[in-house]
Amino acid sequence: MEVVILAGAPEIAALAADAVVALLTSNPGAVLGLATGSSPLGVYGELIRRHREGDVSFGQARAFLLDEYVGLPGDHPQRYRSVIHDELEQYVDFAPGAVLGPDGLSPDIPAACADYEQAIAQAGGVDLQLLGIGTDGHVAFNEPGSSLVSRTRVKTLTAQTRADNARFFSTVDEVPHHVLTQGLGTISDARHLLLVATGRAKAGAIHQMVEGPVSALCPASVLQLHPHATVLLDEDAASKLQLADYYRETYAAKPAWQGL
Ligand code: GLP
Repeated sequence: MEVVILAGAPEIAALAADAVVALLTSNPGAVLGLATGSSPLGVYGELIRRHREGDVSFGQARAFLLDEYVGLPGDHPQRYRSVIHDELEQYVDFAPGAVLGPDGLSPDIPAACADYEQAIAQAGGVDLQLLGIGTDGHVAFNEPGSSLVSRTRVKTLTAQTRADNARFFSTVDEVPHHVLTQGLGTISDARHLLLVATGRAKAGAIHQMVEGPVSALCPASVLQLHPHATVLLDEDAASKLQLADYYRETYAAKPAWQGL
């Protein structure tokens, strides 16, 4: 796992966008994995800016969302499929139908999960998966206790995650209890994992993810088993890392040809 500690959110956004642009330049038909939550918003802003400047096209790319609330109406602004449309898709040039998410309105949830796994596989798998992390160490909506080899399925949110996400709703009672999420095994199949985190509230989860045991108690720790995982942090999110100085030295001495 490569840990990169940067000055702040703009630097994280720029470096993550560099990785996406480099991928789409070498492989315009690449498959992106998109995350929701506030963490990737700076990255999306930077990608929109670079698209407007003519530096990157998504015209041949495909994208898969990590997760979705169960039961939110199609026009609900917090449906993740709507969020990704509003924050990224509407400003760039994805082809119609190129962005998919799990169907949280399906009358047959297990079938919807199986269909989603099949759609990702048929697209050739995800090349670059953007990730955030929850304060309890969840990735996508894989809450503590999730199997490290899990596939797309329904999950129940913890009280902590519902409280964390209540800021996007009028009250915490409006936050659904159930979600569909790519499993930790599904996510681990992506060829490159790129996790971004900022702020002191994430510092404990980041420490557990990078330096704690690989454990279902911290689902994000599954990144330790991935051959190409990159973690971009600000100083606050990195503030509990035991080996922070080593990560800084490593990045400062990184050969320029290597990329992320
Ligand atoms: C949600 C999402 C995750 C996200 C996490 C952290 O629960 N399902 O994909 O990483 O929250 O969100 P934020 O980036 O807003 O802190």
